[in-house]
Amino acid sequence: MPHDFMPGLAGVPAATSSISDVDGQRGILEYRGIRVETLCTSSSYLETAYLLLFGYLPSASEFQQWVTDITHHRRIKFRIIDLLKSLPESGHPMDALQAAVAALGMFYPGRNVKDVENNYWSAVRLVAKLPTIVAAWARLRHGDDPIPPRDDLGFSENFFYMLAESVAPPVWGEIFDDCLILHAEHTMNASTFTGLVTASTLADPYTVVASSIGALKGPLHGGANEEVVVMLREIGTVDKARPYVERALQNKKKLMGFGHRVYKVKDPRATVLQELCRRLFKECGNSPLYEIALEVEAAAGATLNSKGIYPNVDFYSGIIYDKMGIDVDLFTPLFAMSRVSGWLAHWLEQLRENKLFRPDQIYSGEHNRPYVPIDKR
Ligand code: ACO
Repeated sequence: MPHDFMPGLAGVPAATSSISDVDGQRGILEYRGIRVETLCTSSSYLETAYLLLFGYLPSASEFQQWVTDITHHRRIKFRIIDLLKSLPESGHPMDALQAAVAALGMFYPGRNVKDVENNYWSAVRLVAKLPTIVAAWARLRHGDDPIPPRDDLGFSENFFYMLAESVAPPVWGEIFDDCLILHAEHTMNASTFTGLVTASTLADPYTVVASSIGALKGPLHGGANEEVVVMLREIGTVDKARPYVERALQNKKKLMGFGHRVYKVKDPRATVLQELCRRLFKECGNSPLYEIALEVEAAAGATLNSKGIYPNVDFYSGIIYDKMGIDVDLFTPLFAMSRVSGWLAHWLEQLRENKLFRPDQIYSGEHNRPYVPIDKR
């Protein structure tokens, strides 16, 4: 039976899901029915991860157990560290993260995805270990030893500690935790879909997450947060922002951090991230990049808003990480260490009623072509 071809599968449902929902016309994002803004105000990244994975807000004892389990599984094996040491230090951290996550699957039982208890421990390990891998790579590539996690520190505080071996200002931990909440899940995006396709083959969850990391890396997806800061640095000063934007749009260049397949208004995550920017800069001093970003948003708005193109989640997140002294090429790995909870929630959901993804195609080539021997071509 012939079907309409939708490039990029735009608007084509790939699953039914109760994990998150986006209202792209009104700019609303909910995780398990709860607005993301509410979660930023009232929840923590780890509680939000639990909500995404298991579908409900945990009781006090369930949450305590979850935090304990995550905390006890933060360490990574010395062989994973050896693997990271063997990679070229000029390589992209997303590639290092992908390699290390794929390798985790060689150390832990994950292949029997029908084992519900084992799936819980796989989810724990992946949520717990991704920050440790990112921080270890960030240090190893500069010739520094990795810093083991500290059990007395919360998820976000511990990440900063593993990066710099010092305890960051509390406001950094709070703001970073909100950033992790905002990036944790976003319906059927490219990396989630990639993970679902892998999950549908009943591959182990380490392979599922490794494939999602690969899809997230691209500049049209998670990689845009890195490119936004590169662009803002290139612009350099506020007065150069408007001419830069006008030139870019005249040349049909896409502005990174703008536009979204689903949102036709400003991405609600960008709005929250802007509030977080203001809070961070009030407490820790201004960022010239933020002033430039505001001018870029205003200049681009004149042309792009009428097309339904506004800042997305990647536009303001990098400015926050930059102020916290995090290297630009680590921004997308930060996205991955948050989004892993969303990917895993979709993995668990897929397993409940699995059907192998095997889409169709519309063949546009020839038939019955003769084979021409090499000396006659
Ligand atoms: N800057 C300028 N123009 C844009 C932008 C942009 N960032 N995004 C879309 N447009 C324009 C296109 O040029 C096109 O214009 P035209 O109709 O005149 O040819 C129109 O809007 C539609 O663009 P598409 O790329 O076809 O729309 P799509 O829904 O596929 O785009 C996407 C979504 C890929 C995110 C796009 O907006 C983009 O490339 N943005 C920049 C990269 C980016 O920020 N990615 C992160 C997205 S959020 C995330 O993945 C976490």
